[in-house]
Amino acid sequence: MIDGLKIFFGRLFGNLPTHIFFAPGRVNLIGEYVDFNGGHVFPCAIDLGTYAAVRKRDDYLIRMYSNNFQGQVMEWSLDALVYDEIKDWSNYPIGVLFVLKKLGYELPHGFDVLFEGNLPNGAGLSSSASIEVCMAVMVNQLFCFGIGLFELVKIAQRSENEFNGVNCGIMDQFASGMGRANHAILLNTNEMTHQYVPIKLGDDYTLLIANTNKRRELAESCYNERRSECEMALAALQTILPIKALCALTLTEFEQHKSLIANELACRRAQHVVSENERTLKAVKALARHDLLTFGQLMNESHRSLRDDFEVTGLHLDSLVSSAWEHGAVGARMTGAGFGGCAIILLQTNDVSVFKRSVSEQYLFETGLSISFHDVNIDDGARLLESCL
Ligand code: GLA
Repeated sequence: MIDGLKIFFGRLFGNLPTHIFFAPGRVNLIGEYVDFNGGHVFPCAIDLGTYAAVRKRDDYLIRMYSNNFQGQVMEWSLDALVYDEIKDWSNYPIGVLFVLKKLGYELPHGFDVLFEGNLPNGAGLSSSASIEVCMAVMVNQLFCFGIGLFELVKIAQRSENEFNGVNCGIMDQFASGMGRANHAILLNTNEMTHQYVPIKLGDDYTLLIANTNKRRELAESCYNERRSECEMALAALQTILPIKALCALTLTEFEQHKSLIANELACRRAQHVVSENERTLKAVKALARHDLLTFGQLMNESHRSLRDDFEVTGLHLDSLVSSAWEHGAVGARMTGAGFGGCAIILLQTNDVSVFKRSVSEQYLFETGLSISFHDVNIDDGARLLESCL
């Protein structure tokens, strides 16, 4: 992959790249839609992600190409970093430069960059966070800005919020930047503290990522809508309670005060958020005592809550997850933002072929689409892969 990238870079830009970077995608084990509500999430970085080959230029131009969107080279000038719909995918990495500029980090000159990702697009495995984090880590190193990794993660998130108009939380960029091989990250988004938890499933269990192959449609607008609904619920609770975020409440406290939320929809959204935060903490404890059956049950409850209260699953994810349950999965749930994309499945076997076949057949029958299964390992966060100088 890297050799191919170098050769193609040379052909495209007339010179070889000086550096190769990589930033991973992520899969969230549990803790969905709580990262902008001060809750706990439990993602891990995976060994699929975005590669970037780069070389500095002498002028103020940025030229970008992506092997995933084979169109034209996207040209930007460092003097004009303004969102441009026509420039499509390249707004995600360019947003990083926009935020850096706001923070006073001026690039002395531009660069040529070739991206190639092996994450399926729009599948809920954070292809956008991985290109943003890749860009942030790359520019930091190339121009010796000396910005710490956590700051870069926040800059990547701001690119998505302030330049691309998606009000996402910090989970995806955090996992992509700070991931650790064979560990998931328990991130407390209220205090922004984190801890690495080893993922050792042993010989008896397998974790699968199954893609519905249903592209997420209108995901950005629905995502922002869910976020406003959560804010509405919080504002109603704040009329009496001195809380800063929904996840400051335990489920019992929420039950006591939920009548303050007059809007029924907002109340159900908050119900999911508060219960999901508790489930995540329980799941991490279950994992620590290798109680994977409880972990699986919590995954199932998470899916039901995302389906019934938060309403972000939809026909395809529900069909896939139900079929996984029917065919003996210990746990199955959607992962990421939902509205299509991927599910994760925990199985108590390492002979997965019969399971895969049965679930695929049922899913095809119910939806007319095929499932793809992605084999992944839990990987380290974003990094320089090679300096070719
Ligand atoms: C997307 C967002 C994250 C998080 C998840 C849902 O992936 O980018 O910040 O909110 O959805 O858990």
